[in-house]
Amino acid sequence: MIKLIVCKNYDEVSDKAAELVLDLVKANPACTLGLATGSSPIGLYQRLIRDHQVNGTSYAQVSSYNLDEYVGLDISHPESYYSFMHRNLFDHIDIKEENTHLPSSQGDNLQKNCDDYNAKLAKVSIDLQVLGIGSDGHIGFNEPNTPFDSVTHIVELEQSTINDNARFFDNDVSKVPTKAITMGIANVMAAKKIVLVATGTNKAQAIYQTICGPVDEKMPASILQRHPEAYIIVDEAAASLLPKEEVKVEILNTANFDKNTKDGTVLIDFFATWCGPCKMISPVLEQLAPEYAGKVKFFKVDCDESQELAMEYNVTSIPNLVILKNGEVFNRAIGFQNRDMLIQFIESAL
Ligand code: GLP
Repeated sequence: MIKLIVCKNYDEVSDKAAELVLDLVKANPACTLGLATGSSPIGLYQRLIRDHQVNGTSYAQVSSYNLDEYVGLDISHPESYYSFMHRNLFDHIDIKEENTHLPSSQGDNLQKNCDDYNAKLAKVSIDLQVLGIGSDGHIGFNEPNTPFDSVTHIVELEQSTINDNARFFDNDVSKVPTKAITMGIANVMAAKKIVLVATGTNKAQAIYQTICGPVDEKMPASILQRHPEAYIIVDEAAASLLPKEEVKVEILNTANFDKNTKDGTVLIDFFATWCGPCKMISPVLEQLAPEYAGKVKFFKVDCDESQELAMEYNVTSIPNLVILKNGEVFNRAIGFQNRDMLIQFIESAL
């Protein structure tokens, strides 16, 4: 299930992402982090560094595994991901070098490097994976059409990715490596929690397809709809193609509701003023959660198509449910994969 958080700007996106990472590191000082490169997580890393300096949060027991590395750059090259991680994070916190891991792109036997990295990943469980997203929807360097069951592998980068990343290489596309080693999508999905950060209109199309589109290997990040706990934290520009209207679940009256006996009255309003596959949300919810009929009232607004048509759409494409309580956003979630997730979401407000 995707939990979407829309923030005003890059600073807020970075604050929110840092909050999630810091909550984990404070609760579990020996946690395992999956880390990403690119410009998107730099603000997050700056906040971790600041917090380490000011509050002394320690990374001495933390282990990290990075997503990817360019092929053809020595690790001492300033744009190698090894250099990036040291410059932007590792050199400023107390993480131990031996606990930081990146796939190696050095030497002649790249397949062995992939196998070695997979063997390492197989022995650990990543608690939280940080992700950025390419404008073509890639995560790590898993370009469109990478199989969802892929593990660490060598990739030929798409021209769009090479063009996007030329800004780190004096805007000269000929200097951008054409190959990389990346964790596969199955490795990414194995993380317990995922935090994807994206900002800017350049990412809006990929974010729209990730959240509202079908789960399809053509759009690698769309697999996150199937992850149990994936946060997507975006600014308003990256969210600009998402449907403006949200499906609102409003708890109108909880006065008589007894949490233990579950009798009493709770009214939930669904305002489904959506276009496309999402607009049939009310009937779908009624079918999915019939036992809430007595306690929860489903109103449908602006749903002008039949129930059959609703069921034609996969419920996985329900995009954005918001629970409003006393006029305030109480909870929001995206991409319910099954009934249990929906019930869990409704119950969170009861
Ligand atoms: C590279 C990295 C990705 C990253 C993407 C987006 O391709 N391999 O992990 O998500 O760039 O980068 P940025 O955040 O700079 O837009």
